[in-house]
Amino acid sequence: MGRAERLPRVVVCTGKGGVGKTTTAAALGVDAARDGARTLLMSTDGAHSLGDALGVDLRNGPAEVETRLTAEHVSAAHGLSDAWRVVQDYLIGLLDDVGVDPAIAEELTSLPGADEIAALVTLRERVRAGSWDVVIVDCAPTAETLRLLALPDSLAWHLRRWLPDGSTWRPAAAAALGLPLPGPAVLAAITRWHAQMSDLKTVLRAPGSTIRLVTTPEKVVTAEARRTWTSLSLFGFEVDAVHVNRVFPAGSEVGSEWISGWNTAQADGIREVHESFSGLPVVTMPYLPAEPIGPDALAALAESCGEVRLTGERLLREQTTPALTVRETGTGYALSLRVPFVAASDVRLGRRGDDLLIDLAGQHRVVTLPAALAPLQVSGAGVKQGRLVVTFIRTVGPDSGRVSA
Ligand SMILES: Nc1ncnc2c1ncn2[C@@H]1O[C@H](COP(=O)(O)OP(=O)(O)OP(=O)(O)O)[C@@H](O)[C@H]1O
Ligand SMILES: [Mg+2]
Repeated sequence: MGRAERLPRVVVCTGKGGVGKTTTAAALGVDAARDGARTLLMSTDGAHSLGDALGVDLRNGPAEVETRLTAEHVSAAHGLSDAWRVVQDYLIGLLDDVGVDPAIAEELTSLPGADEIAALVTLRERVRAGSWDVVIVDCAPTAETLRLLALPDSLAWHLRRWLPDGSTWRPAAAAALGLPLPGPAVLAAITRWHAQMSDLKTVLRAPGSTIRLVTTPEKVVTAEARRTWTSLSLFGFEVDAVHVNRVFPAGSEVGSEWISGWNTAQADGIREVHESFSGLPVVTMPYLPAEPIGPDALAALAESCGEVRLTGERLLREQTTPALTVRETGTGYALSLRVPFVAASDVRLGRRGDDLLIDLAGQHRVVTLPAALAPLQVSGAGVKQGRLVVTFIRTVGPDSGRVSA
């Protein structure tokens, strides 16, 4: 009985293109279902390769892959993309009024990744349906999706002057600027989009919802995952593990220079992953000799996920403070990072572009700062109760305008 009332565990797999997001999501899903959890695997990626990974046809709707395991490809929630089109037409009209070329206006107002986000809205319905213990989402590559997840906040800020405030409309700002007022259809579309996005964000911020970063042991891929982690933390989403996929087996017996070269490079890459994701469990997944297609191959791959498998007690999670949090302080931001086993009073910070380089009593950490923090000045740093806290303050200067939310 309690089961149906509890919201399911939600795990969203994301990462750079081609790293193995779909494979990881599918492996975790098969594993959870075989362990007894009622599992839904949902792909919001327009490319729809989840069916291929599982070896089932999902083109005609959801399919039961095996006992307790259902998979589906979802596309943009009905009407939500159309709703954005209504808003976009209005914005194009505005830009046209001030003489912007229509083709450029179209480009400026398009929302890359909107379909992906509109598809993700289906997650709310699946989560609330009460039929699942765990819902695992296979997402499109990160960057675009992420920006849009921030929309409810930034939209709310911008829309406050358009949206109904109690019973009155507030078109004053537009009138003052001499801009054409949005019609009822535009307001309805904005309201709908905004409500759905806020609701989606509530689901993604629930205590049982976490994000898995999938990466490979390569510098460029890790750099992107690191940036994703800080951005997600800034938006209040929790990452609870990193999956390093495509790790070559130690191949000394092969005796080839090629494999030993890769082993060395990957060991380096894995070290960098550990430095970049302090406080998070990092698991490695082997580069298999063939594509892991079908439930059995995926279940075997999931065994490499050890402590971050979605089985047994691991499926239910205790609420703890996320490994990384970024919050506004009024004068700037405070970034707090879990740094287990470090009792250092000695913290040294350096910068390399957007990267914050941290030396904690000889241990190195790298945190890539999100755009909102990168131009700010560090005003303090220290380790307290297993966490490193770095504070940033806004400074008055040419860059200070970029910081406002
Ligand atoms: N550990 C692995 N060993 C061998 N092959 C793998 C492994 N992980 C993934 N693959 C294969 O690599 C290809 C890409 O993997 P996958 O589709 O999971 O990546 P993705 O991140 O979802 O890609 P996309 O960004 O296109 O959605 C697939 O053919 C998959 O079977
Ligand atoms: Mg994929």
